Amino acid sequence: MAPLLEVRDLWIRFGGSEAVRDVSLRVDEGEVLGLVGESGSGKSVTSLAILGLLGPAARVTGEIRWHGAPGAAAVDLLRQPPEAMRRLRGKEIAMIFQEPMTALNPVMTIGRQVAECAMAHAHGWSGREAKRRAIAALESVAIPEAASRYDDYPHQFSGGQRQRILIAMALINQPRLLIADEPTTALDVTVQAQILAQLAELQRERGLAMLFISHDLAVVGQVAERVAVMRAGQVLETGPAAELLTRPVHAYTRSLLAAVPTLRTDRNQPLARVEDTTGETALYSPQAE
Ligand SMILES: Nc1ncnc2c1ncn2[C@@H]1O[C@H](COP(=O)(O)OP(=O)(O)OP(=O)(O)O)[C@@H](O)[C@H]1O
Ligand SMILES: [Mg+2]
Repeated sequence: MAPLLEVRDLWIRFGGSEAVRDVSLRVDEGEVLGLVGESGSGKSVTSLAILGLLGPAARVTGEIRWHGAPGAAAVDLLRQPPEAMRRLRGKEIAMIFQEPMTALNPVMTIGRQVAECAMAHAHGWSGREAKRRAIAALESVAIPEAASRYDDYPHQFSGGQRQRILIAMALINQPRLLIADEPTTALDVTVQAQILAQLAELQRERGLAMLFISHDLAVVGQVAERVAVMRAGQVLETGPAAELLTRPVHAYTRSLLAAVPTLRTDRNQPLARVEDTTGETALYSPQAE
């Protein structure tokens, strides 16, 4: 498969502290890469760097190669002018954030919010066409009676529905890459499973590539074909999900797996501890993949 996004030797520093240290990642066209790691390991700042959304306080070095148009030369997203990044965001690379309530405007109808997402990228659609597409987008993420609920406000939807609306907004411009940062963490497990199934279906149908971020290895294992494990700003291990979930090389990944409760977990025993592997050498090397 042809690479779509290649992060190479990425470093992100805030003042004297290093949030991301020499991270390299690749997402191929149509592929789902899971990025897993504990809180503070650098998953969100990595995705914000890809989108050019880190503030001036962050010092970012390395290369983020984006293979935009098929056949065209790759561009380095770290060296694009702000205007080019604005055009790219939401159109070629879309993002779903963790908190559905804060990501939606509470005083604007959801129909208008979805339609404006489309209008922002100047497809030349009329207001009526944008509305028709917004309704279709809401239907595609299984919002019941989307047309009649077009003028409802965010608080009139459930948490799961609001997350679906964010997915509709992310997908309306038919991006080539979707970055989903903990898209189901705020939801209860049943709704989480529905949303994951929905994302997997949309991904298959549209051949969409996805960078799926979660602290939960079990969730990542449900959607990702390959997984990269991050810890303390570094990628420790990358590999096919099936292999990594059954035969992890790195002690840290093994302890992350051991910490996932299963139906067989004895509830009277404390959960397995995630081992402190600080000081271990990073095993990751992009050439070795
Ligand atoms: N604007 C900022 N200024 C200073 N440090 C920051 C800033 N943003 C993030 N960091 C630091 O960078 C590190 C990585 O943060 P990041 O948000 O990427 O973690 P994460 O892996 O997404 O964690 P979580 O699972 O909790 O979302 C953390 O130590 C965090 O404190
Ligand atoms: Mg995060």
